[in-house]
Amino acid sequence: MNPSSPIAIEFKDVSKVFGNFYANRKINFSIAKGSIHGLIGENGAGKSTAMKVLFGIQPKDEGEILVNGNLVKIKNPIHAMTLGIGMVHQHFMLADSETVLDNIILGREPKNFFGMIQREKAKKELVQICESYGLQFSRWDTKVQDLSVGEQQRAEIIKLLYQKSEVLILDEPTAVLTPQEVKELFVNLRKLKAEGKTIVLISHKLKEVLEFTDSVTVMRRGEVVGTKVTSETNEDELAEMMVGRKVTFTYQGPRKILSNQGAQPKPVLKFNSNKVKLELRPGEILGVAGVQGNGQTELLKVLSNPSTYGEKYFKEKYDYTVNGKEIGDATPFDLRKMGVGLVPEDRLSEALLKQQDMTENFLLGQHHDERYVSHGILGKMINRTKVRTEVEKNIRDFDIRPPYTTVWAGKMSGGNQQKLVMARLLDPKPSILFIAHPTRGVDVGAIEKIHESIMQERNLGKSVILFSSELDELIDLSDRIVVFFDGKIHGEFSRKEFDPWAIGKVMGGA
Ligand SMILES: Nc1ncnc2c1ncn2[C@@H]1O[C@H](COP(=O)(O)OP(=O)(O)OP(=O)(O)O)[C@@H](O)[C@H]1O
Ligand SMILES: [Mg+2]
Repeated sequence: MNPSSPIAIEFKDVSKVFGNFYANRKINFSIAKGSIHGLIGENGAGKSTAMKVLFGIQPKDEGEILVNGNLVKIKNPIHAMTLGIGMVHQHFMLADSETVLDNIILGREPKNFFGMIQREKAKKELVQICESYGLQFSRWDTKVQDLSVGEQQRAEIIKLLYQKSEVLILDEPTAVLTPQEVKELFVNLRKLKAEGKTIVLISHKLKEVLEFTDSVTVMRRGEVVGTKVTSETNEDELAEMMVGRKVTFTYQGPRKILSNQGAQPKPVLKFNSNKVKLELRPGEILGVAGVQGNGQTELLKVLSNPSTYGEKYFKEKYDYTVNGKEIGDATPFDLRKMGVGLVPEDRLSEALLKQQDMTENFLLGQHHDERYVSHGILGKMINRTKVRTEVEKNIRDFDIRPPYTTVWAGKMSGGNQQKLVMARLLDPKPSILFIAHPTRGVDVGAIEKIHESIMQERNLGKSVILFSSELDELIDLSDRIVVFFDGKIHGEFSRKEFDPWAIGKVMGGA
């Protein structure tokens, strides 16, 4: 940090305690005005908590926060906004059924003499804001629920600018964006920085942290490990500071050649429609690449739940077989019984019950599993003790934190939720696995573990269809990659042909 640059934000010995658990323990760091400051650390390290304290969502338990050198007691988000602090959350917080305009002006609506909201006036101001920062956006009257994730995020950023935020906190802004959107976001962030705004960027993607931040603070288990000038550090050092050990960024373990992977192995899964022809072979990881919105989501939905999505997404007839058996319009439960497992795209809305604990979430979909059922005088009952024991084992294996089976899924950090979903996937020992975005929002240490567990399944002869927006991840793990474009499979690459540039071109429609 340039010692002469003024400090926008300073944390002094700040702690935040939940029960008797320190989510932040005496953290100290400062953020220079007009800089992009990275905040990194393992899942559950306390990054979101620290920023929620700064934004007035969580009251701190001890310590001091200084804004522009002044000691402040931030009472709530509205107070934080009057201090010029704004935050875009890890999980967006706009009201879905309201228009973008109403969401943005909420709390700062221009009103006329009679107290009526002057929407046109607000719109003019917004158009001006967008022009001056070079942000592309015009869907003011669209309901938030009809925006893409990227657009929602842009709306959130415009909201902060409308609220006159000088400090913009972005909690994992790139986790759900397409590569194009990521590029655009960083162009915008650089413009904001040039205007003198201060930006806090929470991210697990060390490459983007190294490329776009000026300095970076590393947290581990609730504490600040240190703050580095970005140009004086590197990926290996940051990862080691985060995790406390060396991390490898690509899979280094064995990639077994399986005997049944001969020239013409019999596929374990076939899907055949006039748009998508797909065969999954035993013991292979088939990567599905593509810019979001090109048909991958629809394929995953149909493969995992033909009874609900078959007709919706594939109007023309299609053939779908698993181990030679016609699938027809089977339900997810039918597929489970055939040994198919799923990690859906969105862990919060599709995979977890937020207000249930780890044990209940682990049981989801496994209620009928004989391993977890006892036969007593009252008939069949779920044996929760057995389930809990299994969850405890998985907590150890996957290093899920906090390590208590009674924690609600909604209170776990994003990456730890993902580890729980992975653990549940593998529990019934499926032979065919559909896995979507397994490392979205997951820290570098946990990525290593999740990748190892996927490869371990493959090396056992299981078959995996891996959907990911991270091309690096697909290239690292897959045996074969198919590329979606415009609803169709547009190209296929075998492992020896993998080349990010060539695959990227096909993703763009070449
Ligand atoms: N409202 C809450 N009640 C109880 N515990 C909480 C609450 N919010 C967060 N925690 C715990 O505090 C710790 C820090 O969580 P936080 O969300 O700050 O992590 P994070 O660094 O943002 O992680 P991630 O990278 O996974 O988003 C976690 O162990 C989490 O379970
Ligand atoms: Mg977080």
